[in-house]
Amino acid sequence: MKPDSQLPIGVFDSGIGGLTVVRELHRVLPNEDIIYLGDTARVPYGTKSPDTVTRFACEDAQFLIQQKVKALVVACNTASAWALPALQQRFSLPIFGVILPGARVALEKTRNRRIGVIGTASTVRSKAYTNAIRTRDEGAKVFSEACPLLVPLVEEGLLDHAATRIILEEYLRPLLRKQIDTLILGCTHYPLLKKAIGKITKRNVALVDSAECCAASVAESLAQFKLLTPQNTRKGTLRPYVTDDTERFEAMAERFLGFPTEQTWKVELPALKE
Ligand code: DGL
Repeated sequence: MKPDSQLPIGVFDSGIGGLTVVRELHRVLPNEDIIYLGDTARVPYGTKSPDTVTRFACEDAQFLIQQKVKALVVACNTASAWALPALQQRFSLPIFGVILPGARVALEKTRNRRIGVIGTASTVRSKAYTNAIRTRDEGAKVFSEACPLLVPLVEEGLLDHAATRIILEEYLRPLLRKQIDTLILGCTHYPLLKKAIGKITKRNVALVDSAECCAASVAESLAQFKLLTPQNTRKGTLRPYVTDDTERFEAMAERFLGFPTEQTWKVELPALKE
């Protein structure tokens, strides 16, 4: 059965970072209501095994589906990298991840077909971006670098700090040596580092923001499926849920979202139904 187009879109992430995807969704789909789940009690996903990430992602999805949503967006790159097939097998509504849209845009932008990817250790280990790129262009070269220190730096607000610059230079040097002309920011937190990254990569490297690409592709698909909300005059709402205390999330949310959040609700995720 086709979902009701008036229902909200469900978005989930391992924590707060997925709000960068919500921000972009709000920009391209300003009338859509969004229910967000940040699994703040179990963040980070980026250091965890594929099985654990997949189980967590299925529990996150189940919770949102119980809230009645018309589609799901897996904002977390790590969860998209590992869990998308399991989610699509288990649940029958439209489910969108961040990997494919980012890979497609990178292929459109690259001229020398040498593409860099930065992400969590788990995302890099999955080779999800590499596979998505190489199945579309066998001759493309993909170089990946795990950047585990960037998530905590962003969460501490050190976006323009000397320490962040030094660490970014360290992570990006091997990629620049490979003469990439396109770099995928393959993690929810990295859009906040776009300026700092751009200062190091300079103009000759195109930056691909996975949050932006995902939102554009969700908008396109919802239109295709005739699932865009018919309420096109009122501003969409955002209902955020987290699995740990709300204070830290609410304090940081504006930085990721660009505007303050409504009240956040703490929830306990029910066990996965077999
Ligand atoms: N949301 C994660 C991602 O985009 C980053 C934070 C984490 O490791 O859970 O991969």
